[in-house]
Amino acid sequence: MSTAKTLSLTIDGTPCTCESGEYLYDVAKRNGILIPVLCRSDAFEDHRACCRVCIVEVEIKGRRKVVTACVYPVEQECAVYTNSEKIVEERAIVLALLAKRAPESAEIVAMARYYKAPELDRLVELDGGRCILCGRCVQACESLGTGAISTINRGTEKEVSTPYHNPSLACVGCLSCANVCPTGAIPFIQAPSTRSIWGRDFEVLSCERCGAPMGTREEIAYAAKKAGMETPVICDACRKHEIADSMMGTYRLV
Ligand code: SF4
Ligand code: FES
Repeated sequence: MSTAKTLSLTIDGTPCTCESGEYLYDVAKRNGILIPVLCRSDAFEDHRACCRVCIVEVEIKGRRKVVTACVYPVEQECAVYTNSEKIVEERAIVLALLAKRAPESAEIVAMARYYKAPELDRLVELDGGRCILCGRCVQACESLGTGAISTINRGTEKEVSTPYHNPSLACVGCLSCANVCPTGAIPFIQAPSTRSIWGRDFEVLSCERCGAPMGTREEIAYAAKKAGMETPVICDACRKHEIADSMMGTYRLV
């Protein structure tokens, strides 16, 4: 049983409760109040808080401050404002900066338009940019243990890539990086029996029983090795059917 203290707070005037230490973004989401996020993903426990789109104002004992909701632990009763005048203004600037970094990201351009982001004429747009350097893709690759991509270079040259831009032998072609990217910045080509990403071409294997695509040869072998299993030749759904069929057979024999 949890021993964490229960706290009361209001978010945009809506009364809410939470356990002390819960992240403000999670409390808002649980109560149906959506705070915009980009770098935050529920797929990871470690939140790196680098985009600052989720800023909100928190008022405690009459004093207001701007906090980053995705990593702000609620530890006192407070009033939260997710769309105060100050927040709308600051979020618009955050999005204007992100739009300069990623001018070709439809998602960022749409968000910048929605929040009426100002034109920052003195800043130069980065060429061909879709990446906001949120780090989600690197985090996904690290969490799988593959470590095929990382952030390289500094300043305006900073980018996510494989070492020295070469095709990485560590990459298993699983697409986790592309799937968690909030801006569609990682290009890949998916065909029925092949997949290309990060400069490598992979063969996509199909289930020997139903023919459904199962993933790349490398991805299947990697997952099986991690789980200490034989490399499967049939998909999960068919494996479950096989288990159910064999149990029914045993049942009929008894
Ligand atoms: S490629 Fe996508 S997920 Fe990776 S850092 Fe850039 S925006 Fe984030
Ligand atoms: S979503 Fe909170 S800092 Fe990016």
